[in-house]
Amino acid sequence: MNSSEHLLLKSIYQQKITRTPIWIMRQAGRYLPEYIQTKNQAGGFMGLIRNPDLACEVTMQPLKRYELDSAILFSDILVVADLIDMNLRFEEKKGPVFDQPIRTDKDFNKLPTEIDIAKLSYVNQTIINIKSELNNKLPLIGFIGSPWTVSTYLIEGNSTKQFDYVYDLLKNNPNLLLKILEVITKASIQYVKEQINSGVDAIMIFDTWGSLLDHKTYYDFSLKYVNEIINTIKNKNVPVIYYSRSKSNFEYLKNLDINCIGLSSENNLGEIFEFFDKKVSVQGNFEVTYLKEDKITIKKEVMHTLNSFPYKSGHIFNLGSGITPDIDPDKVAFLIDCVRELSSER
Ligand code: CP3
Repeated sequence: MNSSEHLLLKSIYQQKITRTPIWIMRQAGRYLPEYIQTKNQAGGFMGLIRNPDLACEVTMQPLKRYELDSAILFSDILVVADLIDMNLRFEEKKGPVFDQPIRTDKDFNKLPTEIDIAKLSYVNQTIINIKSELNNKLPLIGFIGSPWTVSTYLIEGNSTKQFDYVYDLLKNNPNLLLKILEVITKASIQYVKEQINSGVDAIMIFDTWGSLLDHKTYYDFSLKYVNEIINTIKNKNVPVIYYSRSKSNFEYLKNLDINCIGLSSENNLGEIFEFFDKKVSVQGNFEVTYLKEDKITIKKEVMHTLNSFPYKSGHIFNLGSGITPDIDPDKVAFLIDCVRELSSER
């Protein structure tokens, strides 16, 4: 199959489709026992993403179980920090940790001035392995974090919900924040180009914490840099999906040259599609906690999500946020069946 014939890409480009494509954020993850097993074999999450054979294996795990319409590279948005020698670790239950966060000009001045993209060559090898396994049966989504979202972790040093240091820099040393954003943008541009050259079929940009910014700061601290990245890959013919957990601030997004917007559950798919004059497709936005309910409820809510997009093409079914470890894998199979069945009846 030619890659432009993939259902996912057809719906992104609003071409004729027979049903709504579906994939799941964090589809290779802790709710799958086979994932836990491979992660243990790799000696933990970092060992897993830095091993191209095992990272490829876990990427393929959900595709062996389910009839999904896309693979997504198994990695993390924070590996880009390898390029500035920030040592990323993951702690069980706590998430990502940087032992030496960037909070002062002095911290910043210790960072390397040159970037050696070869430090992320393990990701390229993973992509090459996955593409070979997929054998063009399904597309592969590559991804990066927005420089803003990545920077929040570099500054906080862990997975906080408070963001005290980030807010402090925004208020008291925005110039340092801008310097960090520039470095991460430069690194991300090289990194995303490598992913495209290695063969990914679409790029997703995760701006999970764009929602921390208000209408005055969202453009200057996040979208400006996202835009810069998109502009450098525009000529590569690879569609861009932008994800933010925002439920407002959409006005600014009209200036982004994106093909698809990933939406969290509080948004209405059809309304946002119309807001963008139907020029940007939508992805999402099934509330993950419904997967803890019974099958009747799941089916009803799938119908609800599908009905919120009353158009023939331009919707990619997904959750509104990543799947959590407490979800029963059988419910995921049921969800996918519902989407395939109900969307093809329309
Ligand atoms: O979607 C996929 O299957 C692709 C792989 C992927 C991961 N992280 C693997 C992962 C992707 C696209 C991400 C993106 C990511 N990583 C984001 C943006 C999207 C979002 O979820 O908001 C962010 C903010 C991160 C940083 C990160 N990685 C955090 C804060 C955590 C800890 C919280 C958590 O969910 O565990 C991670 C860990 C992580 N990234 C896991 C996986 C499968 C769990 C690791 C484990 O096995 O313990």
